[in-house]
Amino acid sequence: MASLGRPRWACAAALAAAATTAAALAMTATGHCTTMIVSAGASADGSVLTSSTSDCKDCDFRLARVGARTYTPAGKSNKLRPRPVFEAKFNFPHLVAEGRSPTWEADNLKAEDLPQVDTWLPRTKSIGSLPQVNATAALYETGSGYALLNEHQVAMGESSCPAKFVASPVSAGGKALLDVSELSRIGLERARTAQEAIRLMGALAEKYGYYGAEWDDDETKYDESGEALMVGDTSEAWVFHILPDDTGASAVWVAQRVPDGHMTAVANNFVIRHVNASDTDNFLMSDSVHAVAKRLGLWDGKGLLDFTDVYGKPRPAVHGSYSTRRVWRVFTRADPDLVLPSHTDALMSDYPFSVAPAKKMDLARMVAFQRDHYEGTEFDTTVGLAGGPFGDPDRYDAGPVGNMTLERAMYGEFPRTISLFRTSYSYIARSTSALPSTVGAMLLFAPHAAATSAYVPFYLASEAVPPAYATGSLFRYRGDVAYWAVAAVCNWVHKYYVHAIGDVREMQAVLEADIRNGSLADFEANAAARLGKAKKTKDVRAVTDALTTYTSSRAAGVMAAYGAAFPALIAKFHDGFIRSGETEAAVTMTTMFYPEWWLKAVGYFRAGDIAAAEAAARAAGKDPAAAAAAAAAADDAAMPPVVLAPAPAGSGLSADNGTTASPSPAVGGPGVYGDAVSDGKPSSGGGLWGGGMHIVLFVAGLVSGLGGGSCWPGGSAACSAGAGTRRLGRRQCWWCRW
Ligand SMILES: *[C@@H]1O[C@H](CO)[C@@H](O)[C@H](O)[C@H]1NC(C)=O
Ligand SMILES: *[C@@H]1O[C@H](CO)[C@@H](O)[C@H](O)[C@H]1NC(C)=O
Ligand SMILES: *[C@@H]1O[C@H](CO)[C@@H](O)[C@H](O)[C@H]1NC(C)=O
Ligand SMILES: *[C@@H]1O[C@H](CO)[C@@H](O)[C@H](O)[C@H]1NC(C)=O
Ligand SMILES: *[C@@H]1O[C@H](CO)[C@@H](O)[C@H](O)[C@H]1NC(C)=O
Repeated sequence: MASLGRPRWACAAALAAAATTAAALAMTATGHCTTMIVSAGASADGSVLTSSTSDCKDCDFRLARVGARTYTPAGKSNKLRPRPVFEAKFNFPHLVAEGRSPTWEADNLKAEDLPQVDTWLPRTKSIGSLPQVNATAALYETGSGYALLNEHQVAMGESSCPAKFVASPVSAGGKALLDVSELSRIGLERARTAQEAIRLMGALAEKYGYYGAEWDDDETKYDESGEALMVGDTSEAWVFHILPDDTGASAVWVAQRVPDGHMTAVANNFVIRHVNASDTDNFLMSDSVHAVAKRLGLWDGKGLLDFTDVYGKPRPAVHGSYSTRRVWRVFTRADPDLVLPSHTDALMSDYPFSVAPAKKMDLARMVAFQRDHYEGTEFDTTVGLAGGPFGDPDRYDAGPVGNMTLERAMYGEFPRTISLFRTSYSYIARSTSALPSTVGAMLLFAPHAAATSAYVPFYLASEAVPPAYATGSLFRYRGDVAYWAVAAVCNWVHKYYVHAIGDVREMQAVLEADIRNGSLADFEANAAARLGKAKKTKDVRAVTDALTTYTSSRAAGVMAAYGAAFPALIAKFHDGFIRSGETEAAVTMTTMFYPEWWLKAVGYFRAGDIAAAEAAARAAGKDPAAAAAAAAAADDAAMPPVVLAPAPAGSGLSADNGTTASPSPAVGGPGVYGDAVSDGKPSSGGGLWGGGMHIVLFVAGLVSGLGGGSCWPGGSAACSAGAGTRRLGRRQCWWCRW
């Protein structure tokens, strides 16, 4: 048991050695991760974009649509039946309940056909209740517990933050009734605006008590005790912070408005600094912010209180960048001219609260931000020895290995990327005043890691979540579950990342073309126009049906493409070979071999010479390292020369001389194989995944091949058959040009 490491907080920084008690292991990892929000003035079309990941190793990844409901008094009391409150639960099954969402129904659970299903039935027990309201809004929520978007276009994103106080739920002997996931659900059930949601969540947490995602593990409970939520509506963007108060029976909370024209990010650390209670346009907060700080001597009562300094709990310096580097990346990617040090203190004292993006944000740019691995920066995880010969950007969670304890493992760190291997799902919720909420309330949702997944628009007005997104668990692989379809492709691609990722990007570009080429916006404008003219219920119904069909056909497209891509990728990339010529009389198997910088790093070249020189030096009482270096240099000089191959036209590469774009494995650059960073758009010069022709062929394949599942390999086949394949010297990728 003890070897399993961190139980519930896999998503957070994992700072201390975990005392893994059986009780802790029974709990699950929470979904606190990277969250971003873009104000209306910072987006190209004036919409507010609220985005978040759920980076959780063991969460319930199912998506649920909760319908709008009205409640009428029950019985003689003339009172509404109270709203039940549930204990924070992130793992599968998040909730078993009738009447909230088809995703949480016992029948949907039974359909998973797991042997232990009876132990989860009949339904989740509540730990308390609140007075109900007479009507609640439709919303999307997930098995990680969080509510994402409601029918009034109020949206939330979440990231947990270490804080100074910890409280326990009433179910565990504590005094607090509400955690952030339940608060987010109640907030979106009831609020019509971001400010309403913030005030409501804050007031309920003060009245009923707030507890964080950890409460019983002394080593880790502080890491999860605070929370940040991004809260957006059609005109405003806010950052909300909350933590228990020192009594464990109430809460301390604050919210700061993101200035119009700005965007911001939270990465598991509070970001709100000096709070001005008189500036009610930009700050909302509980009285306890000042009262608790003063009572405990955390603030001298003079000047503006620094919320993060007073209530945050800084990470140990060795892990400080876990929470700061992603903010640095979002800010500097949004505004490349921004001069921002990549190393900062725990409070990010030299970082602004928000930045104005140099280029207006839109859905496609948000998708690109979610797919980030620091490409092109000094922290690029697609280059360097740590990613192996093929530039795998994944860096797994630290854990005890062999004699190395977790504590020892945690003494070092890799860059913590935004797109992460253990992401359950990510989304970008769009709130816009330019469309009626029926059409406007939309989120792009992608299961598993953003970088290798595909985003599908989900309209809240459409009544059903496609089964591929509303089913499945981590207990077993199921090919008909979106999470698993994407996870299969992701895991195979990461084996040969630099070679195979282009094929995934090509597939993403086609599947998500509507997000970038205007056709999604056209579809929505058309739906809004039809809604404006709708006279009868059935006219409205026709519009919501069209929204449902749009989502289900896009979801089916993703399932068909990923379902076909997994076997196709295995056939194309396996055992160190890249297969081409699949429509010719004989296939061609080209060895990937390994890049020269990597071979040098692992001692491939004339290793014997070097070892001999080292041994001779040692025997002679000379410096063995110097001798080894001299022998290596001599071997370098004796190596056959580099032969320059002509660069393919429009490839975006100046020459293919067999060396990698990265001169040294430790230094960043355009990527191991010159993989340029774009905002998720196919590179204009064609390249591996560019080319409108291919897209047309692909779409034709998709349309004709839905269910048949041969659309994506058909695209590749068309590529090599129609345009010819060229091999690129020692790079040995296939290269298709139109
Ligand atoms: C709903 O509740 C509000 C007060 O919260 C009340 O004014 C209104 O009449 C109620 N509506 C119905 C239909 O009961
Ligand atoms: C706090 O906000 C008020 C109202 O906007 C403003 O007048 C005042 O100058 C602010 N105080 C500080 C210290 O910024
Ligand atoms: C663990 O430490 C012992 C004692 O030093 C050593 O013999 C053993 O090889 C080590 N195991 C690993 C996997 O490093
Ligand atoms: C945009 O992409 C969609 C989906 O692939 C496609 O159906 C549509 O024809 C494209 N529209 C334009 C204008 O290119
Ligand atoms: C290979 O080509 C790149 C890009 O043109 C160039 O920067 C590099 O110096 C070349 N390397 C060699 C060894 O010629």
